[in-house]
Amino acid sequence: MMVRKFTTLLVNCLVLFGVHSLSYAGCGDITDSMTPEAIFSRIKPVGIVEAEGGMVAAAPSAATELSATAGEDRYKSTCAVCHETGVGGAPKFRNEADWKVRMEAGIDGMLAIAIKGKGAMPPKGTCMQCSDQELKLAIEHMIPQKK
Ligand code: HEC
Repeated sequence: MMVRKFTTLLVNCLVLFGVHSLSYAGCGDITDSMTPEAIFSRIKPVGIVEAEGGMVAAAPSAATELSATAGEDRYKSTCAVCHETGVGGAPKFRNEADWKVRMEAGIDGMLAIAIKGKGAMPPKGTCMQCSDQELKLAIEHMIPQKK
């Protein structure tokens, strides 16, 4: 009895699957897990997680772009040439006396001067490809640090 029912069910399912895979959902528990929809729903979350994982990994790098050491990197690659030793009267790296008066203008004031240039300080400190944000980070790196 049970065997026959099972066989009938199985045959029905196979026939239905062969004839029309969309009817396959009516096959019951035995083969439900093998329907294309069931298989897809098992695979789908994995695929989506992977896709989102990829996007999550890509999105921050595209949005923030600047690394945590961007200011330091930029300072070393461009600004240090003059600011490390004070070439042409450049305020020296984290030197309190050199920066005191300039810092009164605030970071945005100093940024504005750095962008425009001043005396022996070339516009953008020669880093023409630097964004304002990069310059700002470089300045924040070279001024005396808050204790
Ligand atoms: C070619 C040498 C040189 C380079 C390279 C250079 N600077 Fe300067 N910088 C100077 C000199 C000289 C001054 C002083 C200008 C003055 O006050 O007459 C100065 C001043 C400054 C000041 C103070 C501005 C103020 O408020 O008076 C800032 C901020 C600054 N530089 C940022 C930078 C940054 C950021 C970079 C790198 C992206 C950079 N500089 C690269 C020579 C340089």
